[in-house]
Amino acid sequence: MTHLPVLAQEAIDFLQPVSGGVYVDTNLGLGGHSELILAASAPAGRVIAFEWDPEARRRAEARLAPFAGRLTVVPRNFATLAASLAELGIGEVDGIVADLGLSSYQLDESRRGFSFRGDEPLDMRMDPGQGRTAGELLSRLSEEELADIFFYFGEERQARRIAALIVARRKTQAFKSTAELVSLVEEAVPRRFHPPRIHVATKVFQALRIAVNHELDNLLALLESAPQMLKNDAKFCVLSFHSLEDRLVKRAFAGHPALEPLTRRPLVASAAELAVNPRARSAKLRVARKVEGR
Ligand SMILES: C[S@@+](CC[C@H](N)C(=O)[O-])C[C@H]1O[C@@H](n2cnc3c(N)ncnc32)[C@H](O)[C@@H]1O
Repeated sequence: MTHLPVLAQEAIDFLQPVSGGVYVDTNLGLGGHSELILAASAPAGRVIAFEWDPEARRRAEARLAPFAGRLTVVPRNFATLAASLAELGIGEVDGIVADLGLSSYQLDESRRGFSFRGDEPLDMRMDPGQGRTAGELLSRLSEEELADIFFYFGEERQARRIAALIVARRKTQAFKSTAELVSLVEEAVPRRFHPPRIHVATKVFQALRIAVNHELDNLLALLESAPQMLKNDAKFCVLSFHSLEDRLVKRAFAGHPALEPLTRRPLVASAAELAVNPRARSAKLRVARKVEGR
């Protein structure tokens, strides 16, 4: 299965890539947005693309082989944007696109436990070479730390109940699989508090994934460094997938002296896009313009 880029035409319309321009894709994934930028900026536009998942990089590089001379893949966290561009000898760029979160490859095929459907190892690292797995967090963090993760990163109101049962249960059981975590959450949350429209474990999975990958810290670092890497009038497009991310983006765009928000309300996917790409359901696109001397 391929990953369909979300709100891609909308982002390209803002970026207006030109031949000779240099663009950053902070989330290469399977290469959907990069491919469109490379095609639109032919024959001489460049894309510098960050991706910390080696398998995603392998797949994207195969897909984008026809553009190899114009694509530079940076196998690092996008939080290193400023330092990585400096190492490449690149000063300011003509546009940045960030398509945050997971790719459909990671969710559906990586077998790293991102989904509460099925039964997979409780890993959740997008870069499998770094950091602690979700299973390690569940077995090592205190009850309070776990509750805070579920509450703040999942906006889960039953956070304390779930954390308490994890800590009680882990004395006799190591959490190794997603199915074990799902059944614990089902048990911890009384039936009357099960949400009507989403699976009862949805928020716990989101929260753990954000914690394992330090997603909000990385996003804050990106929002802080991106404006200084943009040329005057260049666009910064950010696609977010849940309210915690969108709130940070909105605040950063409104509060940065060198950014002018171009989207008062975020753009969302059209009915036509949703019909072919359900992942676009929660996507929000915000765009800001670099304004020098403000
Ligand atoms: C939504 S996907 C991008 C999909 C891509 N736009 C496409 O159309 O194929 C997000 C990708 O960003 C990567 N990613 C997430 N956070 C990252 C970070 N801090 N540094 C580098 N890559 C990151 C993930 O591994 C994932 O492959």
